Amino acid sequence: MEASERIIVPLDVPAISEAQNLVRALRGHVGAFKVGLELVHVAGLGVFDQLRAAGADRVFYDCKLHDIPNTVAGAARAIAGMGLWMFNVHAAGGSRMIAAARRAIGERPVDQRSALGSQPTPRLPLLLGVTLLTSLGAEELAAEMRVDVGPRDYVAVLAEMAVTHGCDGVVCSPHEIQDVRARCGSEPIIVTPGVRPSWATTDDQRRVMTPADAVGAGADYLVIGRPITRATDPAAAADRIADEIRNAAG
Ligand code: C5P
Repeated sequence: MEASERIIVPLDVPAISEAQNLVRALRGHVGAFKVGLELVHVAGLGVFDQLRAAGADRVFYDCKLHDIPNTVAGAARAIAGMGLWMFNVHAAGGSRMIAAARRAIGERPVDQRSALGSQPTPRLPLLLGVTLLTSLGAEELAAEMRVDVGPRDYVAVLAEMAVTHGCDGVVCSPHEIQDVRARCGSEPIIVTPGVRPSWATTDDQRRVMTPADAVGAGADYLVIGRPITRATDPAAAADRIADEIRNAAG
């Protein structure tokens, strides 16, 4: 896959006009754009058509569905009709919820890797499972959720369950990629946030990894926000990150 196509830019802005400006500045320099709950609640579901009109061919809807299987299936069916590239559910919703989402979207006729890279946007959106929010630490996992394995094991087990029951891939922290690959193999798509080039500030991210190291560890896609969106020249920042990934791949 071309290095720039690995970059997903989150449109974490409170106004559609700002999101459209980012898309216009970055189209052709990055692979996709991520729309999260903030922008959808500000702009409404029409945001996807508005972003497409600005040039966003590939949109990842970070909706993180988590409910009973019937409810998630209904939402997944509706989302699948919206022309999106990718959306997600919380893997913690369990195997029946994931299987219901998979059935609602439809079975992918070809293996999911053909939906990567420069292939045209597939007819069906890719379904990802969010493993463990990186905002949750080992203490909360043990004391509040009563999970008796550490975060790395928990993430790998959730990832395996998610892909076994119909997810095309998972979202996990860069530090868990190797555990997920070891358990799930090379096939599932891995999307990772918490990525920072060495020349950027870490902002509020605590455990970061450089883009080249995350790809080296086995990530397919990198969600990289503020180092690009807050740069004086966002396209130049994205190009610099793509160069670093390319050079590291040698
Ligand atoms: O600006 P920055 O690169 O930190 O943005 C990262 C994006 O990835 C944000 O949209 C954030 O919500 C998302 N994300 C994250 N950590 C997670 C899950 C999602 O940073 N564990």
